Amino acid sequence: MTLPEYMAARQKDVDAALDRWVPAEAQNPASIHRAMRYSLFAGGKRIRPLLAIAAGEAISATPAGIENAACALELIHTYSLIHDDLPALDNDDLRRGRPTCHKVFGDAMAILAGDALLTLAFEVLAKLEHTSAERRVDLVRELACASGTVGGMIGGQVNDIQGEGRPPTAELLESIHRAKTGALLRSSVRFGAIYAGADAAQLTALTKFGEHVGLAFQIVDDVLDVEQSSEQLGKTAGKDAAQKKITFPAVYGIERSRAMAEEERMAAHSALHTFDGRADRLRQLADLVVRRSA
Ligand code: IPE
Ligand code: IPE
Ligand code: MG
Ligand code: MG
Ligand code: MG
Repeated sequence: MTLPEYMAARQKDVDAALDRWVPAEAQNPASIHRAMRYSLFAGGKRIRPLLAIAAGEAISATPAGIENAACALELIHTYSLIHDDLPALDNDDLRRGRPTCHKVFGDAMAILAGDALLTLAFEVLAKLEHTSAERRVDLVRELACASGTVGGMIGGQVNDIQGEGRPPTAELLESIHRAKTGALLRSSVRFGAIYAGADAAQLTALTKFGEHVGLAFQIVDDVLDVEQSSEQLGKTAGKDAAQKKITFPAVYGIERSRAMAEEERMAAHSALHTFDGRADRLRQLADLVVRRSA
């Protein structure tokens, strides 16, 4: 199977699982279920679920039900995007090629849709069927910490927002990026590893891999914000400079940023040196994260 075929197959599994977990649009109260589904099924790349599944497959042959655990990552991610786009945060009109959630459903419903996706993520983990209670708790802990305020996604978003207009220093930049995006990507890889029963050495190696991919991911997100069109990205291009965000291009310039993403890609590959061909999908996903154009 080629990588695009592999990704399409796994994305289909994840989307089918998401469709089962999220209440139907007709379910009362319908307005929030419409808003949740609008943002969730708008065509995201599903990178986090894919990393989780590929990490699981690096440990054991397709672990049963792993797409359900992967759904929790996508639910948290989509909630974070809905809230990131709100007028009080980045104030964006375009996301995943569509008007943002609050543009269509209003601020109140967008806030609540984000809250609901966040809550549903933990419901999904609590209800996982193919794994032990102990492992479910490990996954809950993992996702809660990666999404939280200390080194996690929300903490990173706080520093990102408060950093607007401040002198872009290398230290501030790295701490923002590691938290706001890196933490959930790192956790995505760890998710698959934990779900599939990785031993301590495997988990350590995959964690390193996830850290490098996570940093590379946000470097590239920042570069694409400068280089690509809104049409290509499906979200407003040039927003970071307009909002005086602390980004890799702002601190290092485009060329150095690209080189740094490439260094992170190489470091991600090195982290997998003890793994055999079963980790090839992870290697390919690391390459894709750095070489993508949207
Ligand atoms: C965008 O994430 C927001 C960041 C964390 C940088 P993605 O680029 O993964 O967005 P989707 O899920 O494909 O829309
Ligand atoms: C958003 O970072 C990160 C999270 C949603 C946690 P950005 O603000 O750079 O994401 P985009 O560029 O709007 O997708
Ligand atoms: Mg933002
Ligand atoms: Mg944003
Ligand atoms: Mg961005």
